[in-house]
Amino acid sequence: MRGTAASLSSLLLRPPRYPIHKAPSLTSPAHRPIRSLYTMQFNASNSELGYPDRTFRTELLPCESDSTVSFQEAGPSRYTLNAEPYTKALPVISSSTTRNSLSIAAEHLRSGQLVSFPSETVYGLGANALSQSAASKIYAAKKRPADNPLIVHVSDLEMLDTLLPQQYTMSEAYRELIKAFWPGALTLLFPVDLERPAVPKVVTCGHASVAVRMPSHPIARALIASAGLPMAGPSANASGRPSPTTAAHVMRDLGGQLDAESVVGGCDGEKGRLKYILDGGACQVGVESTVIDGITAKDEIRVLRPGGVTVEQIAAVLDKTGLANKVRLRVYGKDMERSADQESNPTTPGMKYRHYSPTARVVMLLPAKLFARAVESSSNKSAPAPRAGSSSSSEKVVQSLVSRDTDTSRTPQTFADIARDQISNHLPRDRPSSKSSTLHIGLMMSSDSDVARLISASSPSSSSETTPSSSRSIHPHLLPPFTLPQLDHVVIHAFDLGPSRSAEVYAQRMFDGLRTLDEGPLRGGGDKCELIFVEALDDAGVGLAVMNRLKKAASATVVLDC
Ligand code: TXA
Ligand code: MG
Repeated sequence: MRGTAASLSSLLLRPPRYPIHKAPSLTSPAHRPIRSLYTMQFNASNSELGYPDRTFRTELLPCESDSTVSFQEAGPSRYTLNAEPYTKALPVISSSTTRNSLSIAAEHLRSGQLVSFPSETVYGLGANALSQSAASKIYAAKKRPADNPLIVHVSDLEMLDTLLPQQYTMSEAYRELIKAFWPGALTLLFPVDLERPAVPKVVTCGHASVAVRMPSHPIARALIASAGLPMAGPSANASGRPSPTTAAHVMRDLGGQLDAESVVGGCDGEKGRLKYILDGGACQVGVESTVIDGITAKDEIRVLRPGGVTVEQIAAVLDKTGLANKVRLRVYGKDMERSADQESNPTTPGMKYRHYSPTARVVMLLPAKLFARAVESSSNKSAPAPRAGSSSSSEKVVQSLVSRDTDTSRTPQTFADIARDQISNHLPRDRPSSKSSTLHIGLMMSSDSDVARLISASSPSSSSETTPSSSRSIHPHLLPPFTLPQLDHVVIHAFDLGPSRSAEVYAQRMFDGLRTLDEGPLRGGGDKCELIFVEALDDAGVGLAVMNRLKKAASATVVLDC
């Protein structure tokens, strides 16, 4: 496992507890046919989202590889002292395909509609952050709770300036962090001028702060610069579902097609929520941005949500710039106590809403060795490593690892025992597989982990009609299904999360794995998993963000005897 057990132990020990820019013109003759088609189709405005009419269909807008977009950065920056990012960034787009797609998307955004965009973290659902009615559509499309504020995305520091109160002076720590991580996966909270707020209340949900980030994905950044407006953008999943890391994931949650039949008697509320998805391929980081609050407490940087920029990277910047002695770095839920107040708050640290949840039941598998190492290196030296029937002190440590409503099993067990217990005691009796003969379960694990070794030692047999190549043709990270002699009528579908030493690969694949196993089809026959096991990993580096998401997705954590 990557990193040190000490970092996991600290987690274990805490109780659970943007005036509008003149847009650069992207118009080229090549766009016109597509745009006139768009105009013909969308003159009807009869739903909450401003469309659809009967011909509505979500369209993918292709974007060529990232290297076709670059930025001309200019202007002395008052924040980053003539270092990148500079005050003003103008996109230079060499591919006509990408230019066409961005032109359509930017115009759609400017007209007050939604566009899904690729970012380096996850796909986002963008809307004009300066427009109350445009940003409201995000909540309607995602079915997002109305009290959960949105991150505002900017393309350059000039755009950031338009969001900040006139009297605001940026702290030295913020300047250094922006210099180090923007554009990139770091979101910072800034104060709002409550008398003259730059963004409407629907974006901040009335909070005294606004969350802002400058994405590094060239398509995202070029979209914002082309539209010439700051873009509000949550992850582009239906609320509560795993975040999307491909355009297909977004299509699945928010895309759709209406035809004359399906709209008889009104709009189909589950379809036609989004017109355009910019398809920029799979996201590189795979987990959302790190959200930091450097404004609530003087001389503190609080990590509210761990994400693509790691706590270690933030600490290194504070250290290198001589700020470590003046600014205290605190991580919510790790070295910052969880508070009832925060937990009932819908914002980043909150546990008010369910997150990242597939339809299937998700159970986190905590390898006993990882668990024991963490217990050992914790300051609670008396906590014993777990044994069958072990005591309440290890129970307490397990509880701090798991999600709020867990019904964790507290002793290490074999995988077959765990699976049997979960199937008999935790799956609904009227589940689909109780009518058919086979139950499909998912297993997301590192390729070289103890979990993988343990499973292969149980001499799994590949399911008869499936070959490795046929599984890989369904999904590149799906291994051939297998059965275990101890589990009748159960087929196990393993999803490869990459080498155990690489939390970065794990992060890239995690949401995709949850969705692939949950949504199927797994073998062309429409099979999907009703139960998904996911291997825990050390919470060093981006592992902290991974574990944060897994804890929220999982209903239970069990210690695996390996
Ligand atoms: O990587 C990301 O951050 C992605 C991409 C699309 O940029 N966006 C994203 O947005 O993850 P969303 O809405 O799924 O998560 C944003 C989190 C939410 O938990 C929200 O509560 C929190 O940031 N947030 C937004 N504004 C806030 C504020 N003013 N104070 C505290 N938390 C805030
Ligand atoms: Mg989200």
